[in-house]
Amino acid sequence: MATIAETRTCAETLATRRSPLPDALVAPGPSSKEIDKIVEIALRVPDHGRLSPWRLILIAGEAKRLWVDRLLELADQRPDAGKTRVSTRKLVSAPLVVVVVSAAIPGHKVPEWEQVLSAGAVCMNVVNGAHALGYGAQWLTGWHAYDEQATALLGLEENQKVAGVILVGSVVEPAPERPRASAADVTRWLEA
Ligand SMILES: Cc1cc2nc3c(=O)[nH]c(=O)nc-3n(C[C@H](O)[C@H](O)[C@H](O)COP(=O)(O)O)c2cc1C
Repeated sequence: MATIAETRTCAETLATRRSPLPDALVAPGPSSKEIDKIVEIALRVPDHGRLSPWRLILIAGEAKRLWVDRLLELADQRPDAGKTRVSTRKLVSAPLVVVVVSAAIPGHKVPEWEQVLSAGAVCMNVVNGAHALGYGAQWLTGWHAYDEQATALLGLEENQKVAGVILVGSVVEPAPERPRASAADVTRWLEA
């Protein structure tokens, strides 16, 4: 059982998380033990029907360099090359990328919507897991999450979709806080 002080620290960690800018995520990234922990946390999500309707692809080192190079080549062939190149360059700095893939089973009695939500929960747990270990994380998608040639580089199967391209690394510069919805704006108690 966690002490009150530990619980406060954990709650404060979650309450103050902020996504750093992609270029502010640098090496060193998490160690292999820490990556195992991030994955362990990622998989601890609610999953109606125990379908595990998600997959994780870990990209680092030489594989990451090649993947980004190939994406840049694809970006150059697109009519919106200027924009897609900028978006692709966001992937360069962070030493680890965790691609969370939604692998929802169509036609299953557990609605596809719920399976997709579970993949979103995996994304958030990767972000919070990395943050809890002292790293920064930024949940992106970008053109390459939707472009068929780009997703082919990840070897996605039919019905698999990219839910998140999550950059993970050490934070060189925390981002300033951004305006956030207030609880009053988005919360209400159901009247009796
Ligand atoms: C599904 C999803 C996709 C996102 N894709 C992008 C993206 O492609 N580019 C981007 O700058 N932010 C993207 N974001 C927003 C960032 O993850 C993040 O919320 C934003 O930078 C604000 O930071 P915060 O985590 O401190 O609120 C996405 C968020 C979600 C939930």
